[in-house]
Formats: sequence, C-alpha cells, structure tokens
Amino acid sequence: MFQDYQDIFNKRGDSYHLAMQEEPLARVNEFKLVLDRIQLNDGDVLCDIPSGGGYIRNFIDNDKANVIAIETSDAFFNFCEDSETFKRHLCELTALPIEHETVDYAVSIAGIHHVEDKHPVFCEIYRTLKSKGQFLLADVHEGSCIDDFLDSFVHENSSMGHEGMFVNDDLRADIVKAGFEIVHDQAHKYTWHFDNVDDMVRYCSLLFGIDKATPEQVLAGIEKHLGFEKRDDKVFMNWQLSLLVCDKK
Ligand SMILES: C[S@@+](CC[C@H](N)C(=O)[O-])C[C@H]1O[C@@H](n2cnc3c(N)ncnc32)[C@H](O)[C@@H]1O
Repeated sequence: MFQDYQDIFNKRGDSYHLAMQEEPLARVNEFKLVLDRIQLNDGDVLCDIPSGGGYIRNFIDNDKANVIAIETSDAFFNFCEDSETFKRHLCELTALPIEHETVDYAVSIAGIHHVEDKHPVFCEIYRTLKSKGQFLLADVHEGSCIDDFLDSFVHENSSMGHEGMFVNDDLRADIVKAGFEIVHDQAHKYTWHFDNVDDMVRYCSLLFGIDKATPEQVLAGIEKHLGFEKRDDKVFMNWQLSLLVCDKK
C-alpha cells in the first residue's frame, strides 16, 4: 500500500543519502541547471526547500553566501551540515522559521512533487523572499519520461511505491496565485554521470528505494524509460526536469 511521503523519506533517507555520498557528482548537471542561473554574492541568503541531506552545499562556490536547508524528515535533517554559513531547520514547508523578506533566492530541486497542497508552500516562500528575490523550482514534468519512470517502474519495484504530483498547469497557477511572475518555464534535458553501468544501477536502486527488482531488471527499466550512453569510459544517463524561474512581483 502507498504510504505517506514523509513516512517514506524517514525510512528511505538512509539509502538516498548513501547514494548521494557514493556518487556526490552524479547529479552535478541538475544542481548546475539551477545554480548557474543565479549570481550568489557574499552575504546573500539562499534557501533550499526541501534540501534532503543538504547536497546543494557541494555545488555552491561562494563560501561567504548563507545557505538555509529546510527539511521535513528527521532522517535527512540529521545528515544536513550545521555551520556558520549553512543553517538547517526541521519544519513544515508551510511554516518556515525565517523572517519576512530576508531570502535572496529560494531553490527547490526534485522535492515539491511529493507535496499535494503546493499553494501554501509557494505563499510561504513568497513571504520569506526579499522584494527582488527569485524562486527557482526544478522538478519532474507531468507526462515526461521521468514521470513514467518514477510512477510506473519505480512505483512497481519499490516496496514503498512512488506517486508524484508533478509540474503541470495547476502547479503553475498555484505559483502565480502566490504572487510570483514566472519568467522562465522550460524542460531541460541533461545527464547524470557514472563511472560504469553497475554504479548507475546501484545509484538508482538506492536513490529511489528500488528493492523489488534485480540489478538486471533495474538496468532494463533504465534502458526502457530513460536511456543512457557509454562514452570516454563514462556512463551518461538521460534525465530531465522542468525549470520554473519565478520573480517576486
Ligand atoms: C527526492 S528528495 C530531494 C532532496 C534534494 N532537494 C535533492 O535534490 O536531493 C525529496 C525531498 O522531499 C521531502 N519530502 C517528501 N515528502 C514531503 C512532504 N510531504 N512534505 C514536504 N517535504 C517532503 C523529503 O524529505 C526530501 O527532502
């Protein structure tokens, strides 16, 4: 039976985190898709919602910028760094312990599709952003091959299941209703990188909690839904997310 996502991530956080530790750069293009669009100056505040184990840290060059990691599950929260310039909060996405208009950039990567009622989250992000602040959302698009991979292959082969509530016109309407202007809205295709096919299969199995399929079956699922290429002694697995860049009006 399908379980509540917070419950799932409290159980699945360990294996997701292990995947991210074993292959910290596999998703570099995904984080760069978002971070390359912003100019993070010294002292700027970037809020990552939800942050998982705070993986965005690996991709932020400016160590004088302040990062706030927002997480809803204990499992991930405990993995997040806690330092002078990297603060973590365990809280609901609709009740951020952040002052009004103090954040320069809010970033959300592959997390919002787990949230059913998105509008209150977008309103809360809007509240915390400075007047010229920007919200960058990168997530799976409804009807894409990633939707199919997650909600059919992963759903069938993970004992915890997968049912995403992906990017669609209702999500866009919720963003606009919260007060944002969407200034960029596009699907971006890129690759995840691995040293070999076995690493790719293991990473996907751990990241998505695929515990009901053999490695051969996972490989077949990747081939069928995503596709990958071997080049220069590396493996490049196809992935794509939609990026919505939203200005605070
Ligand atoms: C796929 S991870 C993404 C984490 C990180 N942004 C990344 O890219 O690795 C999904 C995130 O959504 C969070 N999450 C899952 N269900 C949630 C819910 N119902 N409400 C809020 N957050 C949820 C999890 O705790 C986790 O941080």
